[in-house]
Amino acid sequence: MRKIFVTALIIALTLSSCAFADVKIGSCIYRFSDAFMLRFRNAMTAESVNEKAEIIIADSLNDQNTQDAQVDDFINSGVNVLIINPVDRMQSQSIIDKAKSANIPVVFINREPTAEMLATYDRAYYVGAKPEESGTEAGELIANYFKSHPEADKNKDGKIQFVMLRGENGHQDMIARSKYSVEAIKDAGFEPVEIAGAIANWDKLQAMTIMNAFIMSLGAENIEAVIANNDEMALGAVEALKANDYNKGNAEMYIPVVGVDANASALDAMDRGEMLGTVLNDADGQGTAAVKLAVALANGKDVSGQVVDGKYIWVPYQKVTRGEK
Ligand code: BGC
Ligand code: CA
Repeated sequence: MRKIFVTALIIALTLSSCAFADVKIGSCIYRFSDAFMLRFRNAMTAESVNEKAEIIIADSLNDQNTQDAQVDDFINSGVNVLIINPVDRMQSQSIIDKAKSANIPVVFINREPTAEMLATYDRAYYVGAKPEESGTEAGELIANYFKSHPEADKNKDGKIQFVMLRGENGHQDMIARSKYSVEAIKDAGFEPVEIAGAIANWDKLQAMTIMNAFIMSLGAENIEAVIANNDEMALGAVEALKANDYNKGNAEMYIPVVGVDANASALDAMDRGEMLGTVLNDADGQGTAAVKLAVALANGKDVSGQVVDGKYIWVPYQKVTRGEK
């Protein structure tokens, strides 16, 4: 009897918590195994609780077809709004078209559709961070280090010989971080020279393998800096360097490595002196803003005061170091 009562109570509570959630959000994340997107997911879940909204987050398993099917399922199940992290941002149009025919708003996150795509639907938005900012700030970290450490110019040629580990091809963050980090080094009065570079798809293991190959072919002593488009790849490079006795505490054998994100594992590596710095990619700020915007849109609120250019919420980046090394 007691057991039946408890079961009935649980069912009633579950039903009521769903029934009373004003807003149902359907969300897709391009790949759950991405360390930065884990922070993003946690922020969205927490903010949904604050907003008393129901959120269902699906893992698109890095496959655009899977994601398109998930969007169909969300729409058929009657969600009020979508929050989408596209697998391939250049294929966002079909998701915008689906949201438009279902007459529900869609908020894109982290992977930016083109302005032309967003313009095709008045209820399509983007919440993210300006990628050129993160590139500039990562480049400034390297430039500042060389200013305070002239000995970092190991071959004394007045130039900075660096290797670059790039994120996924076509990602707006990969394109802009690669470009603006180098621009910032030039703006600070140095001459950057990319002696090797490769795409490591935001992935630590791929970056470690590539960095090992660079060390083998170039010699670690000829690499003066490592610029990675995100922390996971920076950490992969750090692993490869440590395997070659670099960045383990001996000042003679140190190569400054920078990333982007400020994931906990990168901050730990900075505390150990293995990594020079990173740029905070504010997952909390972006995840919170995306859910707030989605809920406001689902409730038919006027959001014109919260967005810029009618479509965007930009969350700032911030440089992170551990003081003077
Ligand atoms: C982050 C990367 C992440 C990527 C996923 C970027 O903004 O810096 O760590 O892998 O987004 O799209
Ligand atoms: Ca040099």
